[in-house]
Parts: sequence; structure tokens; C-alpha cells
Amino acid sequence: MTQEFDAIVASAQAAFTEARTPADLENAKAQYVGKSGRITELMKGLAALPVDEKKSRGAAINVAKQAIEAALNERRQALADAELQTQLKAEALDVSLPGRVREPGGLHPVSLTLERIEQIFASMGFDVADGPEVESDWHSFTSLNNPPNHPARSMQDTFYVDIDGDDGIPYNLRPHTSPMQVRFAHQHIKKYAEAVQRGEPMPEIRVIAPGRTYRVDSDATHSPMFHQCEGLWLGENVSFKDLKVVFTDFCRTFFESDDLALRFRPSFFPFTEPSAEIDIQFQSGPLAGKWLEVAGSGQVHPNVVRNMGLDPEKHIGFAFGMGPDRLTMLRYGVNDLRLFFEGDIRFLKQFR
Ligand code: PHE
Repeated sequence: MTQEFDAIVASAQAAFTEARTPADLENAKAQYVGKSGRITELMKGLAALPVDEKKSRGAAINVAKQAIEAALNERRQALADAELQTQLKAEALDVSLPGRVREPGGLHPVSLTLERIEQIFASMGFDVADGPEVESDWHSFTSLNNPPNHPARSMQDTFYVDIDGDDGIPYNLRPHTSPMQVRFAHQHIKKYAEAVQRGEPMPEIRVIAPGRTYRVDSDATHSPMFHQCEGLWLGENVSFKDLKVVFTDFCRTFFESDDLALRFRPSFFPFTEPSAEIDIQFQSGPLAGKWLEVAGSGQVHPNVVRNMGLDPEKHIGFAFGMGPDRLTMLRYGVNDLRLFFEGDIRFLKQFR
């Protein structure tokens, strides 16, 4: 009798050992201690036996059942352990890999240029002003002697916002920093009026206004978003000669070169008269000999001074608008403007 049960136990142990997965093991289990497993069937068979036999046979079946359950539990544990080992292996960390370093950041090359421009002009007594990038039509064009339908507007084709200004014309993304000329004068208009009232000399306007500007333009040297820096110096009699001195001084300081040549080439802007493009020429280095355009400039037009709320007989002077992106390219020898605005860290970290 015991032999019969021993054989069942042995066959269960073998089946459990053969099971390679928990699912296999549960199937094997069903054959012995499941609802219609062999042990379960033996138990059912007890019912028909006389009491004595029932007792002794029942006890023996129980011993066999316990042995099978012990084997089952042992195998369950072994399979779970193996599974854990596989998982640990799969998720193993390679502690010899290099860590992720947090590299120090730095200013964008164009920001470095803007800081440099501000420093140089501050040393010449210029204020630094800041203005909105979304502008009214009046500030971007009309106040600058450039009324609707004037052909000069096509030089500055920009983007428009879906919102109309008070004049019924949509707001624009400013195509240049020149609106800051009139804005700055308006911000300080009280100071000028008070000076007139007290019979004091008229305070000068001496300001630069750097910032982002926009135009419908995109290639290696033009980006739809770019930077400009406006300059404005109005006083009792600030002349074109002063423009030459100030701008030459600025360029030589900016590029740290005394033998930099400048050329003022006649041009047209509605808001200056006369007007000039400013070109520079390096005497040595890879760009030597080439004339490179860096700014537009001129004597501020009397109509613009009137739109500032000032008297064109008392506020006379020059304005310029230069391209800090261009200056950055020249200073660092970068030949594609788009590199500045792609945000590629490999390019940018060279300037840090
Ligand atoms: N605003 C002009 C431009 O964007 C440059 C400029 C500024 C010219 C001031 C003259 C005076 O081209």
C-alpha cells in the first residue's frame, strides 16, 4: 500500500522538477492534488471502505499528500528564485559607465555681443533702453516719416499680429529698433518740457536700444528673427561728424583693432536725412580688404523729431541701427547666422 503511494509521490516530484515555469508547475500540481488529481481521487475512494481501513489508508494518503505539497512548495520557491535572478541580471547596472556631468552654462554669443555693445556705449554716456517687440504701425513706420503706402515700407517687410491697433492697422513684430527713438523721447518728454519752462539748456537724448527684430527673410545671412541695436544722440547741434567719431570709436573698441577702416556710403531711410550705410574693413586677418556692412545711419529727420514731441531746431543729431548678429559673426568668424538660433549645444559651448 505504502509502495503505491511512494510511487505517486516519486512521480509527482519528478513532474515538479521537470516544470520549467510557474505555469507548468501549476499544471503538474493539478494532476496530483487538483480537483480530479490522483491524490484527490484516492481520497474520494475512501468513502466506500469500512471504518478501520478508512483510517489507516486515509492516514497513508495524507502522508503522501503532505510529501507532494512539500515538494510543490520547494519547487515553487526554486522557480521564483530563478525568476528573480534573471530579472536582477537583466536590470544590472554597469557601475563603470561614466556619470552624467552637469556642465557649466554660459551666455549666448549674441548676448555676449549685446553686453559688450552696452558697456562700450555706456562708457560714452549713453543710456540703455528696452522696448516692445509687438509694435503699433505708427511706431514702426508712420512716426518714422514712413506713412502707409510709402515705397520704403517694402524694405522692412515684417509679420503682423491678428489684432488691430487704435488706428485700425494690425500690430506688427517690429522690423527694426527705430520705434525706440520716438518711444524713448516720449518716455522722457516731461524732462524736456520742464527744462524749457525753467529756461535751462535742453537735456540731450543719448541712448541705445538693443533687442529682437523681425523680417520676412531667411537664408545663411538672414533670419526671420534677428537683433538690432538702435543708437540715438540728439542735442543742440550733434552732427554727422559726431556720428563718425562715435561709431568709429565704437567699432575699434568692439573689435579691439585700431587700424579698422570705416566707410559711410550714401543711402536712403525715410527717418534720416542725409542717410548712410556704415561699412567696415579689417586691415588684417581672414576678412582683410572686404567692405562689410554693419549699420544704417543718418541725421534724424525733422519730422521724426516733431513726432517725438520735440522742436527740430533744438534737438538735432544722429541715429543708427546696427546688427549685433553680424558683429558676432565677424568677431568670432562664424559664417552662417542660423547657427546662432538652432540651439545646438556643441556650437554654443564654444563661446562659454
Ligand atoms: N532702422 C534702419 C534699418 O533697420 C537702420 C537705421 C536706423 C537707419 C537709424 C538710420 C537710422 O535698416
